[in-house]
Amino acid sequence: MGLKNIVLIGFMGTGKSAVGRRLAKEIFSRFVDTDRLIEEKTGKKVVDIFAEEGERRFRALEAEVIREVMKGERLVVSTGGGAVLNQDNLDLFYQNGTVVWLAARPEIILKRAQRRIGNRPLLRGSNPLLTIEHLLEQRKPYYKRAAFSVDTSDISIDEVVSQIKEKIFGLEDNKSIA
Ligand code: S3P
Repeated sequence: MGLKNIVLIGFMGTGKSAVGRRLAKEIFSRFVDTDRLIEEKTGKKVVDIFAEEGERRFRALEAEVIREVMKGERLVVSTGGGAVLNQDNLDLFYQNGTVVWLAARPEIILKRAQRRIGNRPLLRGSNPLLTIEHLLEQRKPYYKRAAFSVDTSDISIDEVVSQIKEKIFGLEDNKSIA
């Protein structure tokens, strides 16, 4: 494998963290999650940063963490759903990585997000499904620039991981070039 990073973009609840962690393990790369790095750096939960300091401050911290992370090599990077809204972030993702879009249908996103709604500050309004649809529409043009996408709605984490590996390395599971 080259030195490039693999960057997972996509809406919350599309499986970026779970898929990223599994993928990294399978290809012997290091896994990093930008939301977790922000929490380590600040000692605060993402949801508390939103509540106490506002989304702008969160986006600034996110950009800072992405600048640091994208100096790395051979990482699997899971990004926050809104990271693609910042052009500098996007440039860094594309310069130093293969960008993969994890997608899912809005109803699936809602179902997954509801398990941890307390951690999803953007979905706390009275009609979260509408919010998801609206945000997805807004963000789709950015997600769509990825090298390829995988719809995670109806498949397991393992299946998503093997599709990504297949696309990136051109190898199917259990097949070897030897
Ligand atoms: C956000 C998604 C969250 C987190 C923050 C904002 C967004 O990350 O960064 O709550 O704007 O969609 P996940 O996509 O990992 O849930």
